[in-house]
Parts: sequence; structure tokens; C-alpha cells
Amino acid sequence: MPTPVILDCDPGYDDVFAIWLAAANDAVDLRAITTVAGNGTVDHTALNARVACTVAGVRGVPIARGAESPLAQELAPADWIHGANALGGVDLPDVAMSLDDRDAVALIADVLRDSAESVTIAATGPLTNIAHVVQRHPDLLSRIERIVWMGGSTGRGNVSPFGEFNASTDPEALALVLDSGIPFTMVGLNITHQALITREVRSRIRAIGTETARFGAELLERFCSTYDAFGDMPDGPLHDPLTVAMIIDPEVATTVRARVDVELHGDHTRGATAVDLLELAHRRPKNATIALELDVDRYWRLIESAVAALR
Ligand code: BDR
Ligand code: CA
Repeated sequence: MPTPVILDCDPGYDDVFAIWLAAANDAVDLRAITTVAGNGTVDHTALNARVACTVAGVRGVPIARGAESPLAQELAPADWIHGANALGGVDLPDVAMSLDDRDAVALIADVLRDSAESVTIAATGPLTNIAHVVQRHPDLLSRIERIVWMGGSTGRGNVSPFGEFNASTDPEALALVLDSGIPFTMVGLNITHQALITREVRSRIRAIGTETARFGAELLERFCSTYDAFGDMPDGPLHDPLTVAMIIDPEVATTVRARVDVELHGDHTRGATAVDLLELAHRRPKNATIALELDVDRYWRLIESAVAALR
């Protein structure tokens, strides 16, 4: 039976592929797409989620707009990577569907309440919306099977020496979600940096030849060129769809149980994820599953089949 999934995202070039993988793969029953401020303002990310669905012919999945700003700090969008509208430099179609009347938190709550089975949340942006669900709907948290989140790192960061973008954009939200006790999987930079969008990957996706593939290839070219300019990585990493890939196929990555905490106070480390892989904090219970090693070919096969299955 397909896994019921809510995808909470901030598209963003790589989030678009997470939407496509969740919509196209038969192992996922995509119940809702919710959007949060992150790579861009929430107006942009809510629009871009609809762009992703319009291009790929995904219909009938409710899409909601969520939090405008992180819990305790100003939003600082990743415009140097994703452009001013979070899908910079790409021609965007007019969108084919309107936003759901409910906001993200209300939509997530309704899906959790109405589902016969517990629901998995794939989260590919700052955890602000999910933190609001934790605060406002404690009665529904047992309906969440687990959260698989792209963010954090077992090592270095990408917006500060130890801070990854999604963690650093809303550290308080991450802390709240970790404290909630909802089963939590962290898909951090340590593994997503193994998912490099090589020239071969780009040409294989373009060669699929469909409208989705052409649009996707454009996104990947833009993503790689901004990663080259700002991250010195000409083959940028396709972070976000790995959350969905791990729900579809656990064999795509190895994992380990560990303690993870997020730094809320450090002058140089706010937003850093402290992942205790060496089990040094013996008294602190393990609270997360940490993705470690990627099966690169398996991952790209999933992405390419999803793109090929769409319009
Ligand atoms: C994460 O930050 C965003 O820019 C990407 O979409 C991804 O979710 C990587 O640090
Ligand atoms: Ca993202």
C-alpha cells in the first residue's frame, strides 16, 4: 500500500524535484503540499509549488501557503542560490490551480485527522509549519508516522561554518520538532552532497524529452551554475528529493540512530546541528535517524523515472 505523505517545502530548484518524485512514484500517496518561507518568501514558494505541479501535470493535490517567517528571527531567503523569486532565471508558466483555502497548518491538521493510517511528513525547508502543528495540535501528533527532513549536517554547514540553510533559517522550529518526540529522520548535507548533479545526469534528464524533463533540466542548469558561483561546486547537490526517496526505498541510504540537538545560542554556531555519532553524550537518548551513505545510482534512477512518468 502506498505511504500517505504530506510534503512541506519551500521551492526552490531542488524542492521541485521532491514534489515531482512524491507525485509520480506509486509508493507514495501524496495527500498535500504545504509551503513555507525559506528559499524565498512564502508568496514565492506557494506560487512555485503550483508551478511545479502545473508543469508536470500534477492535479488534485491540495497546495497551501504556510508560515511567512521563522519563529524567532527574520527570514533571510537563499536568493543567492535560488534567485529573487526562488526559481530564478527560468520562464515560469501561468499556474493551473489555485491555493487551498486553508493555511498550511490547517491543511496538515485536516489530513492527519482524516487519514485512516498515520501519515509521513517529508519536509524540505525550514520546519516552521511543522513547529506550528506541534504547538497547535498536540492531539494529532500521534497521527504522524515520522518526519523525514532535509536539513542539518553531521559536519560542516552551507550558510555558516556549521549551519545548514534549513536548520539556520529556523533553529527554534527544529528544536521544537526534535523535542516533540515525533520519530525524526535527518537527511543532512553530509549525505545530500553525495547526490551531485553531474553533466551526465543533466543530459540524461534533458534526453527524457518531455515538458517536465525540459523544465527540470533548466532548473538543474541554473542550480549548478549558482552552486558553482557561490559554493564552488559546478555539479550542485540535489538535496531535497532524498527525503522522498528514503520514504520510497529505504535502501537508497544507510542510516544510524543518534542524538541530534540544534544550537540556539552560539555566536558562531547558532543553527548548527550537533549529531553525536560517536555516542559521547551517553546520558542523552538517541532521538533521530541520521542518513549517512547514498546509493547514488539508485537515487538517480528514482529521480529519472519520476521525471519520465510525468507530462
Ligand atoms: C537546503 O536549503 C535550500 O536552499 C535547499 O532547497 C535545501 O532544502 C540545502 O541546504
Ligand atoms: Ca528546500
